[in-house]
Order: sequence, then C-alpha cells, then structure tokens
Amino acid sequence: MREEGLLATAQSQEEIEVEIGLRPRRLDEFIGQEALKERLSILIEAAGSRDESVDHLLFSGPPGLGKTSLAAIVAAEMGAVFRSTSGPALERPGDLAAVITNLEHGDVLFIDEIHRLPRQVEEVLYPAMEDGQLDIVVGKGPSARSIKIDLPAFTLVGATTRVGRVAPPLRDRFGYVARLDYYDAEDLAAIVERSARLLGTSATEDGCRAIAKRSRGTPRIANRLLRRVRDYASVRAEGVVDATTADKALEVFEVDSAGLDKVDRAILVAIIEKFGGGPVGLSTLAIAVGEDTETVEDAYEPFLILEGMIQRTPRGRVATRRAYTHLGLESRHRPEEGLFSEP
Ligand SMILES: Nc1ncnc2c1ncn2[C@@H]1O[C@H](COP(=O)(O)OP(=O)(O)O)[C@@H](O)[C@H]1O
Ligand SMILES: [Mg+2]
Repeated sequence: MREEGLLATAQSQEEIEVEIGLRPRRLDEFIGQEALKERLSILIEAAGSRDESVDHLLFSGPPGLGKTSLAAIVAAEMGAVFRSTSGPALERPGDLAAVITNLEHGDVLFIDEIHRLPRQVEEVLYPAMEDGQLDIVVGKGPSARSIKIDLPAFTLVGATTRVGRVAPPLRDRFGYVARLDYYDAEDLAAIVERSARLLGTSATEDGCRAIAKRSRGTPRIANRLLRRVRDYASVRAEGVVDATTADKALEVFEVDSAGLDKVDRAILVAIIEKFGGGPVGLSTLAIAVGEDTETVEDAYEPFLILEGMIQRTPRGRVATRRAYTHLGLESRHRPEEGLFSEP
C-alpha cells in the first residue's frame, strides 16, 4: 500500500502557484546560506564591473533548498533575462540548439535537473559553454555537414539533486559549483516568518519555531507545513499560528516530533520489520514503501541519514539504534552482528 506523505516531493499545482509568490526575488531576501550568497555577490559584482556575463554556475543539493530561486536571483541581480528549461525537456540535440539560438546577449539560461540531460544533448552544451559556439550536424548520411554558429554571451545555471550524476566533463565546465546545505532552525524560523507575512497570516515567534523544528532543514517543507498549520488555525483556533496550534496541526497531519512524516516512518518500519533491520537495497526498499527509488534516494534518505536514523553500507541500508528508539521498537539484533554503529 502506498503511504501518502505530507512531505512527498510531488508538488500540487496549488503549491507551485503559492511557491512562486513566496520565492525570494533578490539576494538580500534569500535567507541563510550566507557563505554561498557572499560568493555569488562577488561573482556578480566582479562580472558586472568588467561588463561580462557571470561564469556558468552549478547548484546542487536536495529538493526544496532554493536552487531554482537562487538561479532566478542571479538573473535578477545581473539585470538579465531568465530563461528556464530542464534536462528531461531537452530530449534531442535540436531541442537544446533551439533554446540556445534564441538566447540574447547576457541572458541566464537555467537548466533544472541537469543530470538528466541525454548524453548527445550534453555534447552540444560543451562548446556552447566553453567557446560560445553551437556546433551541430545537419542532414544525414553523405550530405551531413557540421555547422558552427557563434552565440551571444550567456550564463548557464544548472541545478541538480545529484551532483554525482553530472558527467565530469560537464561539471568541469562550470566556473563555480555550489552545494546548498540544509538550513538550521533559526534560518528556517526566519523563512516561516517571512512566508507568514507574505501570506497575511499572523504567526508568533514560537509558532514559527515549532514549524521550523519539524521542517527537516528544508524551506519548501517549512512553507508546506506553515500552510497546513494555517489551515488548522483558521478552522480550529483563532487563525493565529502559535506553538500550540502548530503542534496540534502537525499531529493531525502526522508529522512527528523529529519532522518525520508517514513515508519516513514507513521506510524505517520496512527496514526493521520486513528486512530484519537491514541491510536492504534501495530499490527493494522503495518498492516496499511504494515510492520511486529516486524519490527515496533524493528526498527521504538524505534527511534520515542526517538524523542518524539510517546508515548506508556497501550492502544496503541499515536502521540504526536511533531509528528503533524513535519508533519505540525493540532492537532484535545483537550488537555483535555488527549491524550497528552509533550515529
Ligand atoms: N533561502 C530561502 N529563503 C526564503 N525562501 C526560500 C529559500 N530557499 C527556498 N525558499 C522557498 O522554498 C521554495 C522552494 O525553493 P526552490 O528554489 O524551488 O528549491 P529547489 O529548486 O532547490 O527545489 C521557494 O518557493 C521559496 O519560497
Ligand atoms: Mg527547483
């Protein structure tokens, strides 16, 4: 049976629309990631002072940490036009050629999920990134010929949840590769406060903190929880998001004290009850909880590892002692089996 997780990464149309409204537009509205923001502002200012485009940038990190927002911010700070596409949308070399030949001087081209670009498409990107040239073969068979087109200066911004899947020759062509990290509770509370203000919801400081604490380090989830708590507050409380309403609402939506949702717990329970605590392979585990392997790997596992609930071993995923404790389950393994090490 498929568990519906409140934190599942699939986004409803409603959420996509709300998110657009909540998206920070400028660097100074983007909360947290201070070191990264400082480096980006230096890159942008320096390029601006030379009247050049900013070097190609690659943003990596788990979903919902602000990669797309930051890409649009880079364009805004450069005063450039932001053009957006994604790896899966560019199926053939011609698809990318069409996008690239439409670029104008100084534009920012954003390619989301860049690790999913097909190999032949990627090859079109190399000379475009390096020499500002489009190099494509037109025609077939003996009449095929290669043509080169000079491109206007542009900045490519790539985003990926899997930097390890970006082919090294592609990765090497980015002037700057930045990793976005999970946010701390303080930054998340500030994000919740900002979003509450934009949504016109009154929220107390404690209310923002209560939501932040359960947002697994992720702004998208913080915003999602805020909206659920706001719904609850408007029908079950006086419309004010405070710590009590936040706690009660999150209980109703089955987000527990550690910020784990049903799917997280289903993953832990499956490892423990179906696979004897592990090790179990990722794809087997994904099937057991009715999620795609990629969703488990990108959206759930990194947080469960961060929280010390599961461990990756060469033979698969293992539930740690902390997972048993968190779920209130007894560990049936003896320590000498070597399946545990303290997180
Ligand atoms: N640093 C931040 N400050 C404020 N809001 C943020 C920040 N990072 C992300 N968000 C919020 O989270 C949502 C998801 O961010 P997004 O850029 O789409 O993430 P990603 O592309 O990494 O999946 C945005 O709509 C925005 O409201
Ligand atoms: Mg994105």
